[in-house]
Amino acid sequence: MEVISSELQAKETLRNNHDIVLVPTMGNLHKGHISLIGEAKRLGKTIVASIFINPLQFGKNEDFDNYPRTLNVDLKKLELAGCDYVFNPSGNILQNIMEHKASDLSNKMCGKTRPGHFDGVVTIVGKLFDIIKPQHAVFGLKDYQQFLIIKKFVTQNHLDIKITGGPIIRERDGLAMSSRNNLLTPEERLIAPIIYKKLLWIKDNIKKLPKESLIKDSFNFFSSKGLMAEYLTICDPETLAEANNYDGSVLIAIAIKLGNVRLIDNILID
Ligand code: PAJ
Repeated sequence: MEVISSELQAKETLRNNHDIVLVPTMGNLHKGHISLIGEAKRLGKTIVASIFINPLQFGKNEDFDNYPRTLNVDLKKLELAGCDYVFNPSGNILQNIMEHKASDLSNKMCGKTRPGHFDGVVTIVGKLFDIIKPQHAVFGLKDYQQFLIIKKFVTQNHLDIKITGGPIIRERDGLAMSSRNNLLTPEERLIAPIIYKKLLWIKDNIKKLPKESLIKDSFNFFSSKGLMAEYLTICDPETLAEANNYDGSVLIAIAIKLGNVRLIDNILID
C-alpha cells in the first residue's frame, strides 16, 4: 500500500489507472469504514482510500480541532483490508478549491441543524473526484443523506462516476458504528442501542399504526429515556419528502442527542 500526500503525486501515480474505486474518509477508522474497502474490492481493481479531515464541513460549534487523528493505526487497518493507495493530503488542497453547493436535498434532515455542512462535503468530494479521477466511489448508507446528495451531485455535474452505498455496520447490540460512540459515557453507551431498536419497531409497525403515533410514541419514548430526537422522519428515499403511503421504498431516519453526543441512524425498507 502506498501513501500519497499531494495532489501532484496523486495525479502522477494514478495517471494510468482506469479502474479506480475511491473510498473517502476522515480517518479514525472503524469496521464500518473498513467494510467499504470490501465493497470497493468487489467493484474495481485499484482501491484508493482518502483520509482528510475536511474543515469545510464542520460548523462553528462542531469540534474540528478535536476530531480524532489516528493516522498510523488507520493506515495499518487499510493495508490489512487490501487497500492499494491512501490519499492523505495536507490542507493545501483547499487552496483555490472550486466551491460547490449541495442540492436542495440538503435543506432536509441533518441539513436543517448543520447549515453549510453538505456544501462542505460536496466541495471536498468534488475535489477528491477531480484529483483521483475514480470510476467508482463508495459511501456508507449510515450517512444516507450524504450518500444521496453525492449521487445527485454526480448526476448534476455529468460526472462519469458510479456511486455505491455500503450497508450500515453495527455493533452486536445494534448500535450503528460511529467514531462518536467513543464519546458516550459507559451509562449512555448502554442506553444507545434503543435507537436502532425503536427504528426496527417503527419498521415492524409501519403499516399497522398511523404515522403520527409512530413518530409521537417514539419521541416520547426517547425523551423518557433522556434522549432528545432532533428529527425522526419516515420519508421517500429518493426525494426525502415525507412519505404517506408505504407501497414503495421507505427511509426511516433519525438524528438524536444522547448527552452531548449527536447520533444518526436509519433503516431503508426496499
Ligand atoms: P467519515 O465520517 O469518516 O465516513 C467515511 C465513510 O464511512 C462515509 O461514507 C460514511 O457513511 C461511512 N461510514 C461511517 N460509519 C459507517 C457504518 N457504521 N457503516 C457503514 N459505513 C459507515 O463521511 C465522511 O467521513 C465525510 O463526510 C467525507 C465523505 C469523507 C467527506 O469529507
